[in-house]
Amino acid sequence: MCGIVGYVGPSADTVALDVVMEGLARLEYRGYDSAGVAVIDADGVQMRKRSGKLVNLRDDIAAHPLPPTTTAIGHTRWATHGGPTDANAHPHLGGAEQRLAVIHNGIIENFHSLKTGLIAQGVSFTSETDTEVAAHLLAQAYTQSGDLTAAMLATVAQLDGAFTLLTVHADQPGVVVGARRNSPLVVGLGQGANYLGSDVAAFIGHTRDAMELGQDQIVTITPDSVSVIGFDGTPADGRRYHVDWDAAAAEKGGYPSFMAKEIDEQPHAVADTLLGRTKEEGELVLDELRVSEEALSQVTKIVIVACGTAAYAGMVAKYAIEHWTRIPCEVDLAHEFRYRDPVVDGHTLVVSVSQSGETMDTLMAVKHARELGALTISICNTHGSTIPRESDAVIYTHAGPEIAVASTKAFLAQITACYLLGLYLAQLRGGSSAVEAAAVMRDLREMPAKIQTVLDRMDRVREIARFMADTRSVLFLGRHVGYPVALEGALKLKEIAYIHAEGFAAGELKHGPIALIEPGQPVFVVVPGPDTPHDLHAKIVSNIQEIRARGARTIVVAQDGDEAVVPFADEVIRVPVSAPLLQPLLTVVPLQVFACELAVAKGLDVDQPRNLAKSVTVE
Ligand code: AGP
Repeated sequence: MCGIVGYVGPSADTVALDVVMEGLARLEYRGYDSAGVAVIDADGVQMRKRSGKLVNLRDDIAAHPLPPTTTAIGHTRWATHGGPTDANAHPHLGGAEQRLAVIHNGIIENFHSLKTGLIAQGVSFTSETDTEVAAHLLAQAYTQSGDLTAAMLATVAQLDGAFTLLTVHADQPGVVVGARRNSPLVVGLGQGANYLGSDVAAFIGHTRDAMELGQDQIVTITPDSVSVIGFDGTPADGRRYHVDWDAAAAEKGGYPSFMAKEIDEQPHAVADTLLGRTKEEGELVLDELRVSEEALSQVTKIVIVACGTAAYAGMVAKYAIEHWTRIPCEVDLAHEFRYRDPVVDGHTLVVSVSQSGETMDTLMAVKHARELGALTISICNTHGSTIPRESDAVIYTHAGPEIAVASTKAFLAQITACYLLGLYLAQLRGGSSAVEAAAVMRDLREMPAKIQTVLDRMDRVREIARFMADTRSVLFLGRHVGYPVALEGALKLKEIAYIHAEGFAAGELKHGPIALIEPGQPVFVVVPGPDTPHDLHAKIVSNIQEIRARGARTIVVAQDGDEAVVPFADEVIRVPVSAPLLQPLLTVVPLQVFACELAVAKGLDVDQPRNLAKSVTVE
């Protein structure tokens, strides 16, 4: 949930602070209700921290400059324990002499008992946070060992829960020690300097050589060294890799918002996710899969677990996977899956879908699935994140960094990766499934260009959005794979324009929701192509007639050439013809653009909407 940055460099100057502040600016989407930094100088630990957005911290530092230093840590916070106040902002100082500082991402689940014990020892607290407990434990351990790494080792042994910790001590300038359990931490490998971050965006402007830390590992960085041990004290190592995002990729690149940029990046997100997934002759190869073809061939049920937008990607996938593989496929909200006593065994494949790879609800669902003996595959957009590490295998989406809290390009990439998984399973089953899989792959390869065509047609959608800036309620209807698209369109409007919006399966209208229709009620309708089986097109056209007859303002997303909708539509938004199961890759785009433009028309911050954070790493 929080943004974490650490730096050690060769000389005492302002570089350390500049690096940390730049990293925090890139990580701010992870949570932004307070921020702080700590540096080490000859007088000890110097700290600045402020509630509110990062600009408040920047202003405070300008008013009260920090000294030049070789060593700095920084943090942006999304409150869990303790409200967003200056006192609860990180870093937190440990020990009576306050010569140690710590920052933290996650939740220390046993902090109450630890805090009680510390208070009984006479330790006084200045905040309501769980993090401050770690600060005092680290200070006590340091007093015993005189070594920051040993202090971290002794401290993590006392902590339960999910945590990434970074700590510095005034006695050890030039050293930052980090630890991770169920929370992300990556090392940036520099020349004469080293970096730590919640993800690579923290240091992407300085190095692209990274090392992901594994579960229960401690890393100690100095300007010239990086050493890793396990929580058991034995030497360990992380997985080194080259970050293929350049610095610009994490910036807005001239767009007014990350969300607008990421909507336009969707053709590349889908194309890049397809890259390298087929052989010359078209056969699918999912090289990250570490689950045997034999085990996959024996799968008798698939359960997709995810939250929010990722769950709607899973709902789209259900239709496709069941059609191509004939394997029963359920979709569960991750936070419901664990508690419904699911029927899962060794022949169940549990597929998690997560952009961040850190959503705690989804992570805990994956862990529960593994306890029940299921095979687990993660579909994830963030290398080095926790959910892929906890899964048997991973299919990475290649959407690039998704900075805006509202998920757009990751959604399309998730759907694409789910298609790839379904087609791969179909291919394994052979026969007609394999033949159809090859045909679908050809259609899939045409989708990036078709998405671009939709993006090139969005002027009218933006006009409609600006015209509707004062609307207070919007409904979204869809059938078949258009139903999860309707749900996603409603979620986008809720989360960035703060407008009540609701998505329905169009067939559900007559079972209640049609009572909501009154004159002028805006209703988006996602219309399947006329060639969609089961006469679904005619059915939804009659739905449009029903709501139009009651005064609804119908905004219809329909395929090129579909004239049947015209008599009943106040607005028609055209998308290219495509295979029925692939249509969500096109039909969601106007809904994303509509929500983004309407939020901008309302003067709202589309990238950092209120109450939300990019990665929900608490349950
Ligand atoms: C979508 O716009 C939201 N940001 C939210 O629903 C998000 O999709 C959900 O929290 C899941 O996040 P994840 O993909 O990182 O697991």
